Amino acid sequence: MRLQRYEICALPGDGIGPEIMRVALDVLHAVGRKHDIEFACTEALIGGCAIDACGCALPEATLDLARSADAVLLGAVGGPRWDTVDPDKPRPEDGLLGMRKELGLYANLRPVRVYDALVDASPLKPDAVRGCDILIVRELTGGLYFGEHKTIEGVAGAGVGAAMGAHAHDIMEYDEYEIERIARRAFEAATIRQGKVTSVDKANVLDTGRLWRKVVHRVAAEYPDIEIVDMLVDNCAMQLIMNPGQFDVILTENTFGDILSDEASVLAGSLGLLASASLGDGTSLFEPCHGSAPDIAGKNIANPLAQVLSAAMMLAHGLDLDEAASDVTRAVDAVLADGWRTADIAQDTTDAAHVLGTREMGERIVACIEEER
Ligand code: IPM
Ligand code: MG
Repeated sequence: MRLQRYEICALPGDGIGPEIMRVALDVLHAVGRKHDIEFACTEALIGGCAIDACGCALPEATLDLARSADAVLLGAVGGPRWDTVDPDKPRPEDGLLGMRKELGLYANLRPVRVYDALVDASPLKPDAVRGCDILIVRELTGGLYFGEHKTIEGVAGAGVGAAMGAHAHDIMEYDEYEIERIARRAFEAATIRQGKVTSVDKANVLDTGRLWRKVVHRVAAEYPDIEIVDMLVDNCAMQLIMNPGQFDVILTENTFGDILSDEASVLAGSLGLLASASLGDGTSLFEPCHGSAPDIAGKNIANPLAQVLSAAMMLAHGLDLDEAASDVTRAVDAVLADGWRTADIAQDTTDAAHVLGTREMGERIVACIEEER
């Protein structure tokens, strides 16, 4: 009988999801053996595979399992098979968005850390990215994603040449409380980091941006030791490439956070390295920032590190198992320092024998944990 037991809801999803999830679960079990912790993992369907099996992207059984678990670990959803421009057809992404909404996961933490061993993997100059350590705090249950989405066919004047045509809109909304609670998460995070929050908005154009700025500054007043900088989102997109070293915590709303986090992954060398934690007031969810990469699915070439690092975030943020979490991040550090790479982070100078498949990368990490490196 193990000392501790945790129920994990594992949602592999589509594309590369199942193969990277396999690796993450192997790593989890390895760290569990070391600390005498049992991770009881139960898998369920979400996304495209759920549409195929049940006709909807988020079956009730999956939601129930997630709610009753100690934490949820998710792979990725989506793929061309389910792509549709018909707004009435189910989409794999609805599964993920539904899960975020239903579990109230309003705070999405996306750490972007540049590994010393990988400074050359970024297309940016090594001197610009070396040492970068950014935490993107993305609001996750508001904004454009969850405002009204509507398509109306046959609207007078909406067509070409003022003929009848289709109209579509997506409404961006924020309530004060939604901004306040995510801002607080960002300032709290900054207190145990470098003490700086860059709040990113579009206050020169959007009302939601002006409310964002006002509320963020009210919260900032409670944290006099934290430096607060406002930045417009277009400028932030440029600054992330020009001078990424200026950032500590980036606080931003849902859509901007989605875009900026993909951009920031370029600093680290690959989107395949970016993990995330989605937190609310109940069960938390952990998932890589990348998508399901259907073009490389099933080929054993996907980078499993974002999924493994998401499992590490789950250990730290979801289960309060800080030591186990450090074992995983340390093992990832060691494997990278030893020169092991998946194809996405291999460089011209990497010798072919050091380029590993998805499973083999997982085996290296497990070996490091077992060797206590
Ligand atoms: C992400 C993804 C999702 C998002 C998609 C898959 C709905 O891009 O987590 O960044 O837009 O939030
Ligand atoms: Mg995204």
